[in-house]
Amino acid sequence: MSETTKTALVTGANKGIGLAIARGLADLGFTVAVGARDEARGAAAAESLRAEGARAFAVALDVTSEESVAAAARTVAEKAGRLDVLVNNARISGSTEEGAQDPVTLDLDVVRAVLDTNVFGVVRVTNALLPLLPLLRRARSPRIVNVSSTMGSLTLRTGPVLAAYGPSKTMLNALTTQYARRLADTPVLVNACCPGWVATDFTGHEPDRTPAEGAAIALRLATLPDDGPRGGFFDDGGVVPW
Ligand SMILES: NC(=O)c1ccc[n+]([C@@H]2O[C@H](COP(=O)([O-])OP(=O)(O)OC[C@H]3O[C@@H](n4cnc5c(N)ncnc54)[C@H](OP(=O)(O)O)[C@@H]3O)[C@@H](O)[C@H]2O)c1
Repeated sequence: MSETTKTALVTGANKGIGLAIARGLADLGFTVAVGARDEARGAAAAESLRAEGARAFAVALDVTSEESVAAAARTVAEKAGRLDVLVNNARISGSTEEGAQDPVTLDLDVVRAVLDTNVFGVVRVTNALLPLLPLLRRARSPRIVNVSSTMGSLTLRTGPVLAAYGPSKTMLNALTTQYARRLADTPVLVNACCPGWVATDFTGHEPDRTPAEGAAIALRLATLPDDGPRGGFFDDGGVVPW
């Protein structure tokens, strides 16, 4: 792979906003590693992007598995040699069965499962892939984007009461600031974004907003200038209150 081609990895990129982010990064000239926990779905997504002219390859990546994440890091290293942009997009919403995410009857197994994907998954993936990011090379403009939600904003408190999913995004926002502080003396800019209410399987394709529209803020954070923000939370309208 050429020295000038930049590589991006998107988790949960086989569908929805993740696939739209992968497509957008490919349109911007990135070689895209399409992370998917299901190999066949990942292969199909990468194939569909290649059919559109993208440089894309599938990476088997279950963010809840240390082994899968380690193997994915090896795959990216072998196929691309390095990573310039990491987009942590994968998530689960967790069971919404009667009472499961009602705080007064909260099912802690649901909380554990949601945190394992939405928060611990981000830590697993970020820490496994960080060695591939050019920590010393400002010119490659490395970026980490965590796809969060205004449902995690303690100020806005949007959406339904979902006491596993909402707080998982609050913690993801907090982690974003911790990573940004830890990497403050490197060229890696770490930020979080909210895509808005977007038509995906999660929302039953109810909203009018398309995955491409939802992907726009992640693409902006993935391509920030070198003097861009660190440890912020943004949507299309600008800064989102914590
Ligand atoms: N849609 C919205 O309105 C909205 C609003 C605010 C924030 N967001 C955020 O935007 C991001 C994308 O949301 P979306 O609506 O596109 O979600 P989605 O359609 O439910 O897609 C989620 C993706 O994450 C993957 N995933 C789940 N568990 C995984 C695991 N253990 N390892 C790897 N991948 C896993 C899924 O894979 P499978 O296909 O195998 O299940 C799928 O590719 C999420 O972070 C979400 O919180 C979305």
